[in-house]
Amino acid sequence: MKKPFTLKSRKSKSLNGIIFVPSDKSISIRALIISSLCLGNSKIFNLLESEDVKHTLKSLKELGVKILKKKKYYEVYGEGGLYKKPKKRLYLGNSGTGVRLITGLLASRSLNITLAGDDSLSSRPMKRIIEPLELMNLTVQSKKGCLPLKIVNKNKVPVPIEYNLKIGSAQIKSAILLASTNIKGTTTILEKFPSRNHTEIMLKFFGADINRKGKKITINSPNFLKPKDLIIPGDFSSAAFLIVATLITKNSKLKIQQVGLNFYRTGLLDVLNKMKAKIFITNKKILNGELVGDIEVSSSQLISTSVSKQIIPRLIDELPILFVAASFAVGKSKFTGLEELKFKESDRLESMALALKDAGVNINQKTNSLQISGNTKQPGGNIVKTFSDHRIAMSMLVFGLASENEIFIDEKRMIKTSFPNFKEVFNSIGADIVNVSK
Ligand code: S3P
Repeated sequence: MKKPFTLKSRKSKSLNGIIFVPSDKSISIRALIISSLCLGNSKIFNLLESEDVKHTLKSLKELGVKILKKKKYYEVYGEGGLYKKPKKRLYLGNSGTGVRLITGLLASRSLNITLAGDDSLSSRPMKRIIEPLELMNLTVQSKKGCLPLKIVNKNKVPVPIEYNLKIGSAQIKSAILLASTNIKGTTTILEKFPSRNHTEIMLKFFGADINRKGKKITINSPNFLKPKDLIIPGDFSSAAFLIVATLITKNSKLKIQQVGLNFYRTGLLDVLNKMKAKIFITNKKILNGELVGDIEVSSSQLISTSVSKQIIPRLIDELPILFVAASFAVGKSKFTGLEELKFKESDRLESMALALKDAGVNINQKTNSLQISGNTKQPGGNIVKTFSDHRIAMSMLVFGLASENEIFIDEKRMIKTSFPNFKEVFNSIGADIVNVSK
């Protein structure tokens, strides 16, 4: 019998190259969902073919949407809505974005449907979307606030809402917005901590009447969404691993091309700038309403920083890799307002604190905060418990590229939820990441 493989990373001499990263996961999922609502065909170029995106694609097909993979793009044959009740429950795997956005989408469309996911997704909080949807007169039943979710059509008339969103979460915001596309009237969301606005940008690109003034978003429905062709940019969250790897590896220089640079996704660049990272953005342009550009980065001696609550939604998925950057920076870095980090694919505050501590990093973990005393040399030499979380696995493999001793991860399976060719891309720029049998 073949032994299962995992990965290890080793101190690498230098990282160099001009590369692309896989396409954006958040935008790919939204592209499939929103083009399904149009009347007519949309073409999606560069759709991310990762597990999370495949689960959304499969769910939409089960809801009767015809989606074909052509040579250069995916073609979505929109019929102006969703009309078919799937034969069985929809399964969204590990994808929080998939399950929360599709629940919002379906809740206002009078279909009785159950949504489920893997163990990690089944432990993540869903009350946060159920509460606003219920205010819209929609019924979503849960198992103590978690999956499986059951959308029940109680024949109540759905109503638009004015919702005060206190958590900085694009998934909650998007669930409300997608539900609102089928509810007559004006829905308003007040965002206390603004989060990624891909849903707003894409709805507008497809012709929806959606606007933002300061922290207030309004959408007037019904909307007539017109089919479009979309090109998905590179995923900034995947680029983040390459950016930090280049910064902490000596004699390195990397150019990452056509990466999404949405303001609400790129808080990491602001923080790294303050840490004295050598990063330049070139070739900026707008692609289907989204800012994209090339990122040029070279090895840098980073200095410590402090990060607090207001910026967290703009770098929520990059916190694990930012902790790695802080580990190799000179001085003590402070991260506060980390409560949302606990509700991701794992409790990322706990999983990163454990992994870094085991790797010999001097850290001080509190309920919602973390202090990291950085050092240019870090021991490493541990087997990381990833808690089946792709971003923990990738962050710690990057740590191993600069630490004195190798880093092993306990499993590599989950990496394909967002960055299927992670090892190949890193190997192509000279990173020493190899398969090892468990
Ligand atoms: C996402 C939003 C974020 C992020 C997730 C993707 C999205 O979650 O962590 O990986 O595509 O809307 P929250 O909005 O719940 O913080």
